[in-house]
Amino acid sequence: MGNIKLVNVTKRFGDTEVIPPIDLEIRNGEFLVFVGPSGCGKSTLLRLIAGLEDVTSGKIEINGRDATEIPPAKRGLAMVFQSYALYPHMSVRRNIAFPLKMAGMDKTEIDKRVGMAAQVLNLTEYLHRRPKELSGGQRQRVAIGRAIVREPAAFLFDEPLSNLDAALRVNMRLEISDLHHNLKTTMIYVTHDQVEAITMADRIVVLNKGRIEQVGSPLELYRTPSNKFVAGFIGSPKMNFINGGEAAKRNADSMGIRPEHIFVSKDSGEWQGRVRAVEHLGSDTYLFVKTEGSGTLTVRAPGEFDVDYGDTIHLTPDPSKIHLFNNAGEAIR
Ligand SMILES: Nc1ncnc2c1ncn2[C@@H]1O[C@H](COP(=O)(O)OP(=O)(O)O)[C@@H](O)[C@H]1O
Ligand SMILES: [Mg+2]
Repeated sequence: MGNIKLVNVTKRFGDTEVIPPIDLEIRNGEFLVFVGPSGCGKSTLLRLIAGLEDVTSGKIEINGRDATEIPPAKRGLAMVFQSYALYPHMSVRRNIAFPLKMAGMDKTEIDKRVGMAAQVLNLTEYLHRRPKELSGGQRQRVAIGRAIVREPAAFLFDEPLSNLDAALRVNMRLEISDLHHNLKTTMIYVTHDQVEAITMADRIVVLNKGRIEQVGSPLELYRTPSNKFVAGFIGSPKMNFINGGEAAKRNADSMGIRPEHIFVSKDSGEWQGRVRAVEHLGSDTYLFVKTEGSGTLTVRAPGEFDVDYGDTIHLTPDPSKIHLFNNAGEAIR
C-alpha cells in the first residue's frame, strides 16, 4: 500500500513561504510527477513527504496514518538518490544489500531480496562488480535497487536522470516506466522537464511558485489546461499566445493555439505571414511565421515541407483546438 495525503501542508524557510497551503492525494500504485520550473518548490515538497524537511503547518498521512512527526527512516518510503551516492569500494551486491544489512535483516532474506531486485533491474550479471566498472545507466539502476530491496510503500525520485546524456535519459525513462509496471508501487517523481513528465506520469502535478496550478493526466493537461501557465508549460514547442484582435474577436484577453493545430498552406488561409525561420527536423518542419496582427507564431508543417526564409505563407487555426484565457490567465470554457 502506498497512499499519501497532504492536508493543508505549508513550508517556510525563515520569512519566505516556499509552499503555500497545499492539499494533495497520491493514490496507491500511481506514477505521479511533480513538474515545474527550477525553484518552484518540487524538491521541497518531495523532502516534506520523505520527512527530510519538517512541515511548517499541516499534516502528512501515509496509508491513513498521521506521519507528520514520523522520522524519515520510519515512513516506509524510499528516496532514490543519484548514482554518485553509491559506495565506490563495495560491489553492486553489497551496495544493494546495504540498507538491509544496516537494518539487521538475516542473510537469507537479504540474498533473496537482492536477487529479485537484480533480476528486475537486469543487474544479475553485474553483482560482483564495483560501481566504477558500470555504465551510467547501470549505476543508476544500482541506486534504484538499493531502494527496491526495502520494499517501500512509495519510491521518491528527485530529478534522477538530470546527470545523464540525452540518449541514456530516453532509455532510463523507459526503464523506470517498466519498473513501475512490474512493481506497481507508488512512485513520486520530480522533474523540471515537461517531456519526462508527460511521457512517464499517470498524473502530473504542475507547480508554480509552490502552488499547484493543475493536477491531471498528461492528455488532460495537454487538452484542457486550466490556465496560461499550464498551457505554456505542457507541450513542445510551446503553445502560441495571441493578444489583441484575434483574441478580442473571440471575446477573450488571450488566445492560445499549439503549433500542431495550425494548418499551413502556400495558397490560402485565415491568416498570412512571412517565414522568419525554418527548422527541418525530418519528421516535422517547424516554421516561425511573422504575421500582420498576431506576432510571430510557431507552426508545425509536414516533414520535408518545401519553404524558404521570406516566403509568404497562409495559416488556419483548427477552431476546435483554440484555447481562450481571461485577463487573469484562467481558461475560459
Ligand atoms: N534550506 C533552504 N533554506 C532556504 N531556502 C530554501 C531551502 N531549500 C530551498 N529553498 C528555497 O525554496 C525554493 C524552492 O526550492 P526547491 O524546492 O529546491 O525548488 P525546485 O526543486 O523546484 O527547483 C527556492 O526558492 C529555494 O531557494
Ligand atoms: Mg529540485
